[in-house]
Amino acid sequence: MKAGSGELRVFESAAQMARHAAIEFSRRALEAVNSRGWFRVALAGGSTPRQLYALLASTEDPVRDQVPWAKTQFFWGDERLVPPSSPESNYWMANEAMLSKVPVPAENIHRIPAELPDPQVAARRYEEELRRVFHLDPGGKPRFDLMILGMGAEGHTASLFPGSEWIHENTRLVVAAWVEKLNAFRITLTPGVFNQAACVMFLISGAEKAETLKQVLEGPTRPELFPVQAIRPVDGSLLWLVDGAAASKLSR
Ligand code: 6PG
Repeated sequence: MKAGSGELRVFESAAQMARHAAIEFSRRALEAVNSRGWFRVALAGGSTPRQLYALLASTEDPVRDQVPWAKTQFFWGDERLVPPSSPESNYWMANEAMLSKVPVPAENIHRIPAELPDPQVAARRYEEELRRVFHLDPGGKPRFDLMILGMGAEGHTASLFPGSEWIHENTRLVVAAWVEKLNAFRITLTPGVFNQAACVMFLISGAEKAETLKQVLEGPTRPELFPVQAIRPVDGSLLWLVDGAAASKLSR
């Protein structure tokens, strides 16, 4: 792994990775609430974080009671252009696995309004929502306490896909990104926002990601090819939580 590209933590299984992520989540939540009054987190979609969300909501697990739910504000790093009732929706997944089961006030849940027919309008609305909740000045950027991200097998993260025109976006907070291979728009936060975070935590699991992860962590920096490499918090930590299968090609 190259110097400056973050801290790698490898776990035997995806379940152990989720457990560690849950502890990291609750620890950062308490720290943020104690020092700033709020914990502001951006959630990832995809399937990998589901175990983490389920664990945080589980009444069988002590970590649930360590999360200051009333003081936690939930946002999303990206969203598909579907209504919140769709199983395709990243909001829907987090709601099913966690939010509907924990004592978080409805006004703390800031989902991307991806049901709006015009993706540009949806992106603009979400940007306004970020500006409102974070009390941003024009030109200001939000600093999340924690941003959870995943990585696709070809190196995309959030909805920043290889070749995306938004890989170096540092002015806008939220964009409607056209994804050629999906033939669809997605709404995504930009690298300019992810890179302001106090902590970005990647959750990466599965052998199909091993080769790309090796390229990303040990190869040259080519964010147009591997958008995940565009994520480098300027004044925050970068954690790579990875299961054994995804880490299997790393030279450690
Ligand atoms: C999405 C995500 C996306 C995801 C990766 C990894 O909307 O799909 O936000 O960027 O994190 O595709 O997904 P998996 O965890 O399912 O492999």
